[in-house]
Amino acid sequence: MKALNYGLPVQMEEETGELKFGEGVLCAGVKAKCFGEIKNLAYDPEEAQDGEHCYTFYQDIWKEQDAPLFAKHRITNGITVLMPGLMGYECHKNSGHYHGMAEGRASTLPEVYEVLSGRAVFFLQQSHSFLEESGPLQVERLRAFFLTEGEKLVIPPFTAHCVVNVGKGPMAFGNLAVPCPLHYEPIARMHGFGMYLLRIQGQLAFVPNPRYRDLPLLEVARPKECPELGISFDTPLYAAFVRRPDTFAYLGHPGQCDQILAALYE
Ligand SMILES: [Fe+2]
Repeated sequence: MKALNYGLPVQMEEETGELKFGEGVLCAGVKAKCFGEIKNLAYDPEEAQDGEHCYTFYQDIWKEQDAPLFAKHRITNGITVLMPGLMGYECHKNSGHYHGMAEGRASTLPEVYEVLSGRAVFFLQQSHSFLEESGPLQVERLRAFFLTEGEKLVIPPFTAHCVVNVGKGPMAFGNLAVPCPLHYEPIARMHGFGMYLLRIQGQLAFVPNPRYRDLPLLEVARPKECPELGISFDTPLYAAFVRRPDTFAYLGHPGQCDQILAALYE
């Protein structure tokens, strides 16, 4: 068993990726997905094995005494464990989505992720017109962030995100967000993001999805710390949120941090 640096006692079984929660840690629900459910997003759908376990999502993980704090700030959290390996040549990934417009707001809501075990590539795909249903999805910006344990990433508004496991074992990552509608359909109708991540003869290779038009150049990037947004690589998100919940107010009100968010990864 591997102890995850989550700010709560959480361990991961290293073969199966199953999580075990320590005494006093509550988890509201568990959902699992198989590759058959995401085969329409694969580089080669023939290679996705219908019954093979893809990822497990553990939702709302906290100590009982911290529950009122999450409720007060309307914050939800979770841990996803994404299994290692390849679908044909493509590295295992989750489905990815855009966050929907919350009522009365001018932008979609951001989210924060942290890698708890393993190595990940996060694809960030920005599109202000993601809700338009005709023609190819227009992408303004496409980035791939390489993250390792302890590193964190803020997903800006209007940006779809999906996670790829590029390590050898199950990859665990945590998230923190304000609940909002999630849109999987713009990605589904394009059969994935603008870029697929393959492993060919041991080397990672980015391969464009030919269904997109005028795809911008892929930017390969690394995450950064940002104390103003509660992002420190040596403090788990759970601990950072419980200690200073107001620091994460931008998750529900991104307009307050527009400039910091815009400049974060430039
Ligand atoms: Fe999300």
